[in-house]
Amino acid sequence: MESLVGSQRGRGCALRAHSPPADLAMALLDLWSAGGAAVLQSQQRRDGGRTLTDRYRRTTQRGRYRRQLDRQPAAATMAAEPFDYNTISISANYLLERTKHRPAIGIVCGSGLGSLVDHLKEREAFPYEKIPNFPVSTVAGHDGQVVFGLLNGVPVMCMKGRFHSYEGYPLWKTAMPIRVMKLVGVNSVIVTNAAGGINDKYHVGDVMLIKDHINIPGFAGNSPLVGKNDENFGPRFPGMSNAYDKQLRQEAKNVVKEMGIEESVHEGVYVMLGGPSYETVAELRLLRLLGADAVGMSTVAEVVVARHCGMRVFAFSLVTNKCIMEWDSDEEANHEEVIAAANARKHHLQELVGRMAARMAQ
Ligand code: HPA
Repeated sequence: MESLVGSQRGRGCALRAHSPPADLAMALLDLWSAGGAAVLQSQQRRDGGRTLTDRYRRTTQRGRYRRQLDRQPAAATMAAEPFDYNTISISANYLLERTKHRPAIGIVCGSGLGSLVDHLKEREAFPYEKIPNFPVSTVAGHDGQVVFGLLNGVPVMCMKGRFHSYEGYPLWKTAMPIRVMKLVGVNSVIVTNAAGGINDKYHVGDVMLIKDHINIPGFAGNSPLVGKNDENFGPRFPGMSNAYDKQLRQEAKNVVKEMGIEESVHEGVYVMLGGPSYETVAELRLLRLLGADAVGMSTVAEVVVARHCGMRVFAFSLVTNKCIMEWDSDEEANHEEVIAAANARKHHLQELVGRMAARMAQ
């Protein structure tokens, strides 16, 4: 209880400078989330003259304020503490009360994989804006829905559209849906993304099974796990040396063989940058020196959060463009080529994910 109240207060403080009505809403949220008489009394002491009736009247606004605040991809939210267990439970319970599915497998659909959800049987979709506490995606080509359904007969929970730090969200918020998945009952995730190929041998349309990552934002202390650790989810200092499950990577290699696409599939290291600008040539050369094979602006935060709460992770990148490694090149990376390449390969990607889900369910 104490930690809940403390963290909600923290959010109130962070917002105070920006918006007095928001501050009031956060104070009301304190009451609502913590919900005890003792808290109510201390709140009254803090706020002096206001009556309980005033306070009650204003609580009717809480849903609206909460929705506005939680979805603000603005600096105000950067300082906020990660949502606690109770807050994430509200999102998970919203979904559990409305879907008949009880998936153990979660899928984060990166660029080009969103149409996977169209092939689910017994589909049940929930737009992000309807789910309490969920952020909303702001990137063209990234629809925002949580979709439940059967993939090759296996119940799955998909995120169609994900969140990026370049949208203005703190990393914990970009990865918050993974914790929602966890509380829904998911224990293994498939995380997919579009990435630029740094490795010379990679071509547009190739797939890279991720064997490891380099968390560049993490080097600067920007991790989704920054802030008070919630032991309900996992330990303060989680290990990451086996982030990408060895057994699942082996399964994926078997699947790739069965599909006859070995030629265009590699195993490599993914590096995450914040974006949204694509990399300079010098940056790409540095990343190559560091041992990165593909570069993107997502995935790592989700994987860190998934591993923190004990999920098994399988992840891959679709190489949507070759990174430009020469200063005298006339080419330039752009979002359109990324989307086009992703669309061109979506059938293979869907099949890979479908086959992996079937194996992970065994
Ligand atoms: N760089 C960073 N992110 C990306 C790229 C890239 O070249 N391609 C797709 N996502």
